[in-house]
Amino acid sequence: MARSKEKEDADGRFSAPVSISMADSSISMLKLISILIVFVVGMVIGLVSSSNINKYFTFQGDQFDFKSHYFDTEQFSHDAEKKGANCEKGDCLSMESFIRPKSLTHRMTDDELFWRASLVPEKEDFPFKRVPRVAFMFLTRGPLPLLPLWERFFSGQDKEKYSIYVHAPGFELNVAVSSVFYRRQIPSQNVQWGSVSLVDAEKRLLANALLDFSNERFVLLSERCIPIYNFATVHKYLTESLHSFIDSYDDPSRYGRGRYNRRMQPDIRLAEWRKGSQWFEAHRTLAVKIVADFKYYSIFRKYCRPSCYPDEHYIPTYVRKFYGALNSNRSLTYVDWSMMGPHPATFTAVNITTQFLQLLRNNGTMCSYNSEKTNICYLFARKFDESALEPLLSISSQVMGF
Ligand SMILES: *[C@@H]1O[C@H](CO)[C@@H](O)[C@H](O)[C@H]1NC(C)=O
Ligand SMILES: *[C@@H]1O[C@H](CO)[C@@H](O)[C@H](O)[C@H]1NC(C)=O
Ligand SMILES: *[C@@H]1O[C@H](CO)[C@@H](O)[C@H](O)[C@H]1NC(C)=O
Repeated sequence: MARSKEKEDADGRFSAPVSISMADSSISMLKLISILIVFVVGMVIGLVSSSNINKYFTFQGDQFDFKSHYFDTEQFSHDAEKKGANCEKGDCLSMESFIRPKSLTHRMTDDELFWRASLVPEKEDFPFKRVPRVAFMFLTRGPLPLLPLWERFFSGQDKEKYSIYVHAPGFELNVAVSSVFYRRQIPSQNVQWGSVSLVDAEKRLLANALLDFSNERFVLLSERCIPIYNFATVHKYLTESLHSFIDSYDDPSRYGRGRYNRRMQPDIRLAEWRKGSQWFEAHRTLAVKIVADFKYYSIFRKYCRPSCYPDEHYIPTYVRKFYGALNSNRSLTYVDWSMMGPHPATFTAVNITTQFLQLLRNNGTMCSYNSEKTNICYLFARKFDESALEPLLSISSQVMGF
């Protein structure tokens, strides 16, 4: 109806001037011809551009096909819908989700994730109240047997001061909604112990934690680690430290220098080769550098193969080579190697006594901290068997203050 009415109006406008006089009608003819020319030119432009649009759509179609190989299409369009809904509220570039992602779920590849995590703001001051957080990163094969002790450690603490990340490939942590571990699993991939995939998992934990701009310190832990000081002490010790705690030393034996491969020259010389415990603690500045490095990581992936273990050499060597001055060169995680052999001692229920824990916390040795001395050398310890949980829970408040 609307269409035919428009047509009537147009016809009426054209027919009226033609019938007035000859001069008028020749002017009208000119007008008509010029309108025709405009119309034809318009048609041509229309045809040309529509063929471009077709090309464009075909291209998009290809891309979409490519994506649907990887993603569930329904989920994909559902997410797009949700994003659209957010945008309508004017929240497309929400500051909140940029500085602290609400969910740990994402579909980024490691390449994409590491790139995003390596972005550093040029501006020094933050446009929000930034409380420096400690990121507790659990690298596990599956369940966390000592989880109740960690729950107690975090219990009642300010949630602004810490965040938790769990890398557990193919495993779902079954914890209550009220648990601080609830929905704290990052997208994980299989790990072969002793291979470079272990370094990949460490970088994946660092990168996911870096997406939260408030995370200032990053601690790597295993399912066999326990805290030996309370949260307030750990948070203060870490956030006030001028150095990172990455074990890094020159071991002249076959278990150190013996694992060096000459093909790493000239990028890594034997004199630069370092060894250190895998259980590191890093300041944000170093965490970014580790996630951003590809050159040296690639050398280790290529030339550090059993019996060379990238998790014991890559970070200690890389950090020593470029950022030595930022490092304390010691680990904060106590490990008992006194049994010799390839694996450290595991503590079971019978080993857990008040005296034992007190010695872990302070055995009289002093350690350097911000160019001073402190009797707190370790904040964490490993390896603890599942059976150690009950005795630990029964003496934690008396000995460890939580
Ligand atoms: C750790 O070792 C590096 C390299 O030798 C050195 O520059 C740095 O000062 C050491 N850190 C401390 C706290 O002594
Ligand atoms: C744990 O206790 C047992 C039994 O007393 C002892 O044999 C073992 O050496 C202890 N382990 C460690 C690592 O101290
Ligand atoms: C205390 O622990 C450190 C580190 O494990 C060790 O090197 C040192 O010998 C211990 N000291 C005593 C007095 O047991």
